[in-house]
Amino acid sequence: MIIIKLKIEKAVVTMAKRIDRNMTVKEVLEQYPETAKVFQKYNLLIVGKSCGPHEPMAFFTKAHGVDYEQFAQELETAISEKPEKPEVFEIDPSLIGDTIYQKFIKTAIIVSVTTGCLYGAVKLFQVGLAGSFDVLLKRAIQMHGASQLVGWVGLYIMGFFYFILPRLKGTVLAGRRWANLSFYLILAGLVIRALFYTLETSDAPLYPFVAGLLDTGAAAIFLGVCLKTLMSSKEPKGIQDNFLLAGIVWFLVSGIIYSILNLQLFLGLFKTGDPLLVGSVPPYLFSAWVHLFLMGFVFNFIFGISSKTISSFLDTPPVREGVIRKFFWIYNLSLIGYVISALTRIQQIYFITLLLIAHFTWIFIFSLRVFERKVGDLDDVRMDRSHERFIRVGYVWLAISSGIALFQLMTKDPYILHMLRGAANHGYTVGFVSMLMIGFSMKMIPVFTGNQIWSGTLTKWTFWLLNIGNASRIGFEILCATKNPIFHQIVGFTGFLEVLALFLFGINIWVTMTREEAYEVKPIEAFTGNETVFALTEQFPQTIPVLKEAGFEKITNPLLRKTLGRAITVKKACQEQKVDFSTLKQKIIASVPTLRG
Ligand code: HEM
Repeated sequence: MIIIKLKIEKAVVTMAKRIDRNMTVKEVLEQYPETAKVFQKYNLLIVGKSCGPHEPMAFFTKAHGVDYEQFAQELETAISEKPEKPEVFEIDPSLIGDTIYQKFIKTAIIVSVTTGCLYGAVKLFQVGLAGSFDVLLKRAIQMHGASQLVGWVGLYIMGFFYFILPRLKGTVLAGRRWANLSFYLILAGLVIRALFYTLETSDAPLYPFVAGLLDTGAAAIFLGVCLKTLMSSKEPKGIQDNFLLAGIVWFLVSGIIYSILNLQLFLGLFKTGDPLLVGSVPPYLFSAWVHLFLMGFVFNFIFGISSKTISSFLDTPPVREGVIRKFFWIYNLSLIGYVISALTRIQQIYFITLLLIAHFTWIFIFSLRVFERKVGDLDDVRMDRSHERFIRVGYVWLAISSGIALFQLMTKDPYILHMLRGAANHGYTVGFVSMLMIGFSMKMIPVFTGNQIWSGTLTKWTFWLLNIGNASRIGFEILCATKNPIFHQIVGFTGFLEVLALFLFGINIWVTMTREEAYEVKPIEAFTGNETVFALTEQFPQTIPVLKEAGFEKITNPLLRKTLGRAITVKKACQEQKVDFSTLKQKIIASVPTLRG
C-alpha cells in the first residue's frame, strides 16, 4: 500500500475560540490544517473529496456520533499547541478523491430516465389510451421492472455502499478492481436486456437468463468485496450492520432465483397460449422475485442506513435500538416465509407473512421515530435541510403502501388484485425507495464530493413532481379497480410527472458530482512562498513545470495537487523536499511576468 506522508505546519494563532458550530468542516481544515490530526484520530479525515465536506461542525459531529464540545476543544488545542516535531499522519491514497460511486450513480440515472421510468411512462400512457391494464405485454413490463430494480436501485445502492463502507468502518475498500468489475457486469446485463428485448422475438428468449447470470455474478462480487472490507475493519459492529449484510445476501439470492426462473423460460417450461404472457415468466413468479429483491435487498439497505443516520439527519430523538434489533430478525424470517409461499403459491402462509411484514414495518417506522418532534440540537445550525422532507415523506409512502398491500387479502377478483399490487409496488418503488434514494443523496452526495447541491429550485420541483405523480398514480390505479376507462386515462399521464421529477433530480445530482468546486482563493499579486501549492498552481498553471523541474514530481498529478497541495505552502514544501526556496522563487517569478516578488 502506498502511504502519503503529510506533514502539517504548526500554526501560531492566539485568539480564543476559533471553531464555532456553524463553521463547515471544509473551512476548519482550510483555515487550520493542523487540526487534520484530530479528524484523523476520529477516523473522519477523508470524508469529503479534498479538504472535508461543506457541513457545519455541529451537524458533522452529531452525524458521526462524536461529542461536539469535546471535539471542538480538541481542535482548539491542536491549533494552539506547539508540537515539538511536525505531525506526520498517513492517508491511504485510495481514499483521497475517491469517485468510485460516480459511474454507478450516473448509469443508474441514465437507466432510470430511459429504459426504466420513461419506458414505464410510455406503457402507462398505452394503458390510458386503451382504458385497461390488460393490454400490456408482460415481457415488456418484466424488462422495465428488471431494468428499474437492478439498474436504477441496485446500481445506486452498490455505488453508494462501495464509497460509504470503508469510511463507516475505518478501513479501505478491499478489491477495488472487483468492485469495478461488478459495475461492468450489471451494465452488460442492462445493455443485453435493452438490446435483445427489441431484437429477440422468440417465446423462449435466452437474454433474460444471461442478464440474470451477470447480475448474480455482480451480486456475488459485491458480497465478497463487502465481506473482505468488513473483515479488515476493527470498528465495533453497528446497528446497521446486520441489515446491510442481510441485504447483500438477499441480492445474491434474488439474482440466483431470477436466473433460475429465466432458465426455465428459455427451456420452454412456461409455454402459454396467452399472447400477453408470451416470452415472460409467469406473473406470480416474477412478482415473488420483485418482492425478494425489493424487501430483501433494497429495504434492508434502507432500513440499515436509516437506523444509523435518521436521528442526526432529522435531528430527532435516538432510534429505539432494542426494538430495531429484534425487528431485524422477525422481518427477515417473515421474508423467507413470504417469498417461499409466493413462489409456491401456498396461500395461508402468504397471507400470514404479508400481515406480519406490514405490521412489523409499521413498528419499525415507529422505532425510527421519523415523525417525532425535533430535539433541537441543530436548531442554531445553518444548513440545507431539503433531505428531511424526502426522508419523512418516503416513510409515509412506505406506511401507506404496506396498508394497500394488505387489501389484497380482502378480494379474489384478479383485476382488483392486479390494481392493488401495482399501486402498492409503485408506492414502494417510487414513493419509498426512490424518495429515500433522493433524500439520502441530497445529504450525502455533497459530503462525498465536497460540493453543495447545485440547485435548490430543482430539488423543490423534484419533490413536488414526484409526490404529485406518485399520489395520482397510486390513487387512480386503485380507482382503476372499478374498470372505469376515465380513471385509466388519468393514470396514463401520471408517469410523465414522475419521469420529469427523476430527470430533474438526475441533472441536479449529476452537476453536483461533476462540477469542479468554486474554490475561492485570494488573487496572488506578490509571491511570498506562504501561498499554498494549490493556490499558486491554480492561478498560474505555468508554474507547474517549474515546480516539477525543481523536484516536485507529483505536482503533475491533478489529484495530489488539489488535495495535498491545499494543505502545504510552497515554502514548507521546499523545506520538506530540501529544495532551495530562493532559487525556486526566482524561477517562479520569471515564469509569471505579472507576479511581484
Ligand atoms: C416513472 C415512474 C414509473 C412508471 C411510469 C412505471 C410504470 C409501470 C407500469 C405501467 C407497469 C405495469 C403495471 C401493471 O401491469 O400492473 C410497471 C410495472 C413495474 N414497475 Fe414500474 N414504473 C415506474 C417506476 C418504477 C420504479 C422506480 C421501479 C423500481 C424501482 C419500478 C418497478 C416496476 C416493477 C418491478 C414492475 C413489475 C411488477 C410486477 O409485474 O410484479 N417501476 N411499471
